Amino acid sequence: MAARITLIAALLALASSHALAFDPSPLQDFCVADYDSNVFVNGFACKKAKDVTADDFYFTGLDKPASTANELGANITLVNVERLPGLNSLGVAMSRIDYAPFGLNPPHSHPRSSEILHVAEGTLYAGFVTSNTENGNLLFAKKLQKGDAFVFPRGLIHFQFNIGDTDAVAFATFGSQSPGLVTTANALFGSKPPIADYILAQAVQLSKTTVGWLQQQQWLDISQEYRQRLVQAN
Ligand SMILES: *[C@@H]1O[C@H](CO)[C@@H](O)[C@H](O)[C@H]1NC(C)=O
Repeated sequence: MAARITLIAALLALASSHALAFDPSPLQDFCVADYDSNVFVNGFACKKAKDVTADDFYFTGLDKPASTANELGANITLVNVERLPGLNSLGVAMSRIDYAPFGLNPPHSHPRSSEILHVAEGTLYAGFVTSNTENGNLLFAKKLQKGDAFVFPRGLIHFQFNIGDTDAVAFATFGSQSPGLVTTANALFGSKPPIADYILAQAVQLSKTTVGWLQQQQWLDISQEYRQRLVQAN
């Protein structure tokens, strides 16, 4: 009896980890996002199937470099469910990342997805940091050339830096329709409202003055232009 209960518990745990650890499996061929729906569900409500067209599954412009004329020298073109409605319920997304020489996609994490990055042009130095281990937070980093791919495990802080003297381009693929983006410095020093300076000062072992200075900086989100455009479009 006890063995049977253990088995059932183990099976339930397995089943729920499949259901909860990643985007849920689709229950139909597609569920194109209806951005105008007032129904609030996990993801977007589905557009009526008779109104769905090929364009709902289509995105163009990934051949075009985005402007890297900003303080990070990088720019992210997101192709997630917020921009490509056909991705709703399908559990995948991608992005194009442009890097000027010495351009940086700053340390960040994706709470809902692992990522595989493919370098299409240029030379990057990319890496991720593990969660806390008995040996601390371990850095796994590598120089990547055109044609290389590198994986960033779900939820871990990672970055890419263009170490070449030419522009670089990479394409990232995600196992979520909306992987989410937490830019580490922005979240710590640019939250709204701010985290109290004495809390951050104690956390990062800096004076309140230095923390105050950090909190006054403009914490650029290099994917934001696209989010804003989406909000305006809707
Ligand atoms: C990213 O690129 C787009 C397209 O070139 C541009 O409109 C936008 O201002 C750029 N964002 C940043 C932060 O530079």
